[in-house]
Amino acid sequence: MSDNDIPSVIETASEDREGAAIRAEFWLDADVTFLNHGSYGAVPRRVSAAAEIWRQRMERQPVLFFQETLAPGLRDAAGVLAPFLGVQADDLVFVENATSGANAVLRSLRLAPGDTIVGTDHGYGAVRNTARHVAAMAGAALVEAKLPFPGTDPADVVRAIDAAIDGRTRLVVVDHVTSPTALVLPVEDIARLCRRRGVPLLVDGAHAPGMLDLDIAAVGADWYVGNPHKWLFAARGCAALWASPSARGDLHPPVVSHGYGAGYLAEFDWTGTRDCSPYLAVDAALAFYRSLGPARLRARNKALAAEGARIVAGAWQTEVLTPPAMAGSMALVALPFAVEPTREAARALRTQIWHEHRIEVPVMAFGGSCHIRISAQIYNEPADYHRLAEIFRR
Ligand SMILES: Cc1ncc(COP(=O)(O)O)c(C=O)c1O
Repeated sequence: MSDNDIPSVIETASEDREGAAIRAEFWLDADVTFLNHGSYGAVPRRVSAAAEIWRQRMERQPVLFFQETLAPGLRDAAGVLAPFLGVQADDLVFVENATSGANAVLRSLRLAPGDTIVGTDHGYGAVRNTARHVAAMAGAALVEAKLPFPGTDPADVVRAIDAAIDGRTRLVVVDHVTSPTALVLPVEDIARLCRRRGVPLLVDGAHAPGMLDLDIAAVGADWYVGNPHKWLFAARGCAALWASPSARGDLHPPVVSHGYGAGYLAEFDWTGTRDCSPYLAVDAALAFYRSLGPARLRARNKALAAEGARIVAGAWQTEVLTPPAMAGSMALVALPFAVEPTREAARALRTQIWHEHRIEVPVMAFGGSCHIRISAQIYNEPADYHRLAEIFRR
C-alpha cells in the first residue's frame, strides 16, 4: 500500500469506518479492541520496515555505521522532525523516551537544601519519582499543586500552580497532556506564569506530538520533551528533547559519555552504543502521519474520543470526566461501580477486561476512584467503544 492508497479520513465520527480500512497498516491483532494508544502507541508496519532497513545498514558494516553514518544520520533525522515541532534542528536531540528526557533536565538541576520543584498531582508517576529523587539528593522538596478534579478548568490549573510557586522554587514541571486524567493543560499560560515568576519550566509533552497541533517554540517553556513513539507513529524508543538556547548550559543526558563538555548535540547524540533506528526512521513515521492529513486526523481522533466517551458513559450511566475545553484524543470515563483507588486494583480490572473481552483499555486510579481512559487513533471506529460500553451496560 503506498501513501496515496490510504483512504481519506471521514470527519463525522459516528459514520466513521476509517478505522477498519486502515487497521491492516498496523501490527495489531485483528481481534483486539485497542483503546490504549496512549500508553505505548502502536507502530505501523511501514515504520517498522523503515527502522529495520536502518538496523540492517548498521549490521552490514557496524564500525562504518557508528563512526561515519550515525552522527549525520541523527542530525538529518532531527532536521526532518524539528520543523514539524516548530523548532530548529540544532535545538532538538533524540532520547529513548519522555522519561529519559525529563531525567536529563531534572538531574541537571543544581538544587540546594530548601529549594523546591513544583509539579502537579496529575503528573506522570515516573517523572514525579525523578523529581522526588533529585530533590531528596539535595535536601530539596517536590511540591505538588493540587489541580481541581473533576470539573477542571484551565484558569484553575494556572492558579493552582501559581499558588505553589514561591521564592524557593527552582523549576516547574507540568504535563502537556496528563496521563491519569487525559487533560490537555494550558501550557502556554503556565509558561507565561513561569516567566512572570522567574522560574524555568519543563513541559512533559509525552502525548503531544501528533495528538495536538504542537509548536514547541511557541509554548514558551525552557525545556520540552515529547514522544514521537506515541501519537506520531514512530518506532518505539523515539523521544525528542528540546532545550531553549539559554537553558542548556548545564544540561546533560542521564548517561554521560564521550561528548561531555563538547556541547549539547555532542553530549546527547552519543550516549554509548545503542540502536538508534527509531530516530533514524522518524521520517517514515512523519510521512505516514502526513499521509493521513494531520489537521483532519487530529480533529477526527478528538471527535472520536469524545463520541466514544459519550457512548461508554451513556451505556454505563456514568459521567465523562474530561472537560471539552481540555480534551485531546483521550477521554476519562467514570466506572459504574466503585473500585479501590489503588494501582493494584486498577491493574486487576484492566487485566480482567482484557482477558474476558479482548478489549485493551487502561484503568486509572485517581482522585479517590478508578476510571477508564479511552483513546482514539486512526485504526479505531465507533464500534470499538460500543464493545466497551456493552461490558458494563446498565
Ligand atoms: C505524561 C507522560 N509522561 C511520560 C510518560 C512516559 O513515557 P515514556 O514511557 O516514553 O518515557 C508518559 C507515558 O504515558 C506520560 O503519559
